[in-house]
Amino acid sequence: MSERSLTPPEIFEALRRRVVGQDAALREVAVAVSKHLLGHAASNLFLIGGSGSGKTTILRAVEELLRADPRLAGHATVVRLNANLLAELAGRGQQSGAVLERLAAAARAQLGGQASAARIKAAVEHGLVFVDEIDKIRSHVGDRPNVTGIVAQESLLTLMEGETQRLQVHTVDGPETVMVETSRILFVAAGAFDELYDQVLERVSKVEGQKVYKMVPRADGSVQRLLSFKLARHLQHADLFAYGIVPQFLARFSAVVTLRELSTADLVAVFKEGPDAPYASALAYFRGHDLDLRVTDEAMTYIAEQAAMQPRLGARALREVFGRIMRDLEFDPWGSGLVQPTADGRTELVVDLETARARSQR
Ligand SMILES: Nc1ncnc2c1ncn2[C@@H]1O[C@H](COP(=O)(O)OP(=O)(O)OP(=O)(O)O)[C@@H](O)[C@H]1O
Ligand SMILES: [Mg+2]
Repeated sequence: MSERSLTPPEIFEALRRRVVGQDAALREVAVAVSKHLLGHAASNLFLIGGSGSGKTTILRAVEELLRADPRLAGHATVVRLNANLLAELAGRGQQSGAVLERLAAAARAQLGGQASAARIKAAVEHGLVFVDEIDKIRSHVGDRPNVTGIVAQESLLTLMEGETQRLQVHTVDGPETVMVETSRILFVAAGAFDELYDQVLERVSKVEGQKVYKMVPRADGSVQRLLSFKLARHLQHADLFAYGIVPQFLARFSAVVTLRELSTADLVAVFKEGPDAPYASALAYFRGHDLDLRVTDEAMTYIAEQAAMQPRLGARALREVFGRIMRDLEFDPWGSGLVQPTADGRTELVVDLETARARSQR
């Protein structure tokens, strides 16, 4: 193993500290990043997962992992951008070069202001480009073509086809033009594709007449009809074309990776331990008032279950559910009757199941 690389298990374990419940996707990301660090041709990934399933969290985790390792400097320059920005640039006719310019700026920030044009060029050629919200650059919406989306996909496609591009880089000696060979840049695109689920469900059930329900007997002898449809199992490239991803563009990705819907147990973990865990910020807030917040395990499970019931928000619903429970407590915890001294002389604010239930329904 080159000293400038990381093994897939090393990358996987590092990402897993930040990302809950997406092990299968993290394995694919880990292999793609490891190959990239070894200098292999890019195995670009296309991530699909519902809102709040962890797509942006994964992209951020990879970016921070690579940035934090000084051995990788110059081989792991990352830009993470929102596809909306590409659409905006496309609308102004300025899209060409914007991604490479950003990579060059990131490389310069990483290598220092003294970096030569040759070093910046090498860093750009070994760069990683993460395009979030890729579903916002559809080529059409319904029957109407979406011109900025088409142009934005084309501009990415040009880079992914590995052509040589002219790029102006800024060095201490002023601007210099270099020719950049883009075939080794790793692209990871991610998007929620909100309507894709219904679209594929309709194709599978109505058009193809496949069974998407299974009949499950209940204890009392009656039969319950449960939806057994899983997007990951039925998704085909043609569904993404129908959604507005141009075939030539999709063809530049080695794999389409679908993220899971987070379970209640996953949501509890995100609530307690995730990178922006709502619980951690509440603990810090009340500690500032000399109070030790304690949300009981039963209350946490309740919060996760309530969040899971909200359609298509994933972990994003945790903050909303918890916020509702805590709203009045944040204003006046002392007057709530929930503050109590502990045996070891601390003061606790306890939110148990009963409190969580009552306050979430106010
Ligand atoms: N799998 C996960 N592991 C850890 N935290 C997560 C996970 N999924 C979501 N979260 C948390 O939920 C919030 C939203 O997650 P994130 O931004 O990754 O969602 P997303 O999949 O990008 O959704 P969207 O499609 O709406 O952009 C963040 O605060 C994040 O910390
Ligand atoms: Mg996101």
